Amino acid sequence: MGSCSAFFLVAALLVTVEVSIGVKEAQLAYDYYKHSCPSLEAIVKKEILSISFLDASAPAAFLRLLFHDCQVQGCDASILLDYDGLTHDSEMVSSKNFGVRHREKIQRIKTTLEAVCPGQVSCADIIALAAREAVSVSGGPQIQIPLGRKDSTTCNHQQANTHLPSSGITVDQLLPIFSSKGMNLLESVAILGAHTLGGGHCINIVDRLYDPHPGDEMNEGYQQLLKLACPTRTPLTNLTVVPNDLTPVVFDNQYYRNILMGKGLFGVDSSLSRDPRTAAIVHKFAYDKNYFFQAFSSAFVKLSSTNVLTNAKGEVRRICNHVNKRNL
Ligand code: HEM
Ligand SMILES: *[C@@H]1O[C@H](CO)[C@@H](O)[C@H](O)[C@H]1NC(C)=O
Repeated sequence: MGSCSAFFLVAALLVTVEVSIGVKEAQLAYDYYKHSCPSLEAIVKKEILSISFLDASAPAAFLRLLFHDCQVQGCDASILLDYDGLTHDSEMVSSKNFGVRHREKIQRIKTTLEAVCPGQVSCADIIALAAREAVSVSGGPQIQIPLGRKDSTTCNHQQANTHLPSSGITVDQLLPIFSSKGMNLLESVAILGAHTLGGGHCINIVDRLYDPHPGDEMNEGYQQLLKLACPTRTPLTNLTVVPNDLTPVVFDNQYYRNILMGKGLFGVDSSLSRDPRTAAIVHKFAYDKNYFFQAFSSAFVKLSSTNVLTNAKGEVRRICNHVNKRNL
């Protein structure tokens, strides 16, 4: 049975029922699993700790996974669906998802949870919780997030192509992405601080290295370092990963210090430090870690809670990379 297929009939029925009995759009809740899975947050925390202990770069992957899930159809675990052999390709076929790692770890956590509270916890909530644990396990803020997201029965690789940003976008292009999630300017600059973790592949760097836009100057030494790591205009392999900042496994404000020095890895990072609207905020975050942590925390809640499926608008998948089977 398909994983990515849309069950239009079922969807249509649910919508009809909702309208006719006038159910209001349900909200997420901080105590959503209080009775159905009280140990959820402790379990996810433990799993992320043990995964990160073996692979220090894993927290970066979980944080990016959340953004790439939420950016396509909302935070609904659509990024986890595999090709069903029938209708929709996996979102992973989009080149914008190049470098996305550790999707299968979400299913591993799901398996642990199914043994404790079967059929309760959505894969979308696991992605969100994994990301917030990734932040705190790396030294970042501990963020409370509301839960109760449901999983999609569809995915959309075309939307992955159009809705996921390219590495070189400008501040003009990035602000609408985050204001559409209710973030103000401060929060929009803060959420990019996620780039304090992890790194990028040459394919996302070579454009600005060998064909720079006017005004996108880099620190001279940093540029030479990047050219050593990525020596050709067209990368010969996809194996080289360049760290995002000096401390790629620590969630701190080093990202902002780096971009102020002209050591931003991607065009988007560099434009954040240069644009007059965002530069002043970059300065503040570079000097005040707590201020950054506060703004990041509220931005994170908005990123992970906007455009979610609740109640009957989605399902709790039994397996994260396939939609549930229906007896139609
Ligand atoms: C909106 C503008 C953004 C752009 C243009 C952008 C672009 C990129 C690019 C090109 C990479 C490198 C991928 C690779 O080569 O492997 C990357 C990595 C990363 N991004 Fe973003 N990103 C943006 C926003 C975000 C947001 C909002 C988050 C999370 C809240 C995020 C978290 C990450 C993380 C953690 C990594 C490192 C991943 C790893 O090491 O596996 N990014 N980003
Ligand atoms: C690297 O990955 C990109 C994006 O998936 C792909 O288009 C390209 O062909 C790959 N390059 C090599 C050398 O494998």
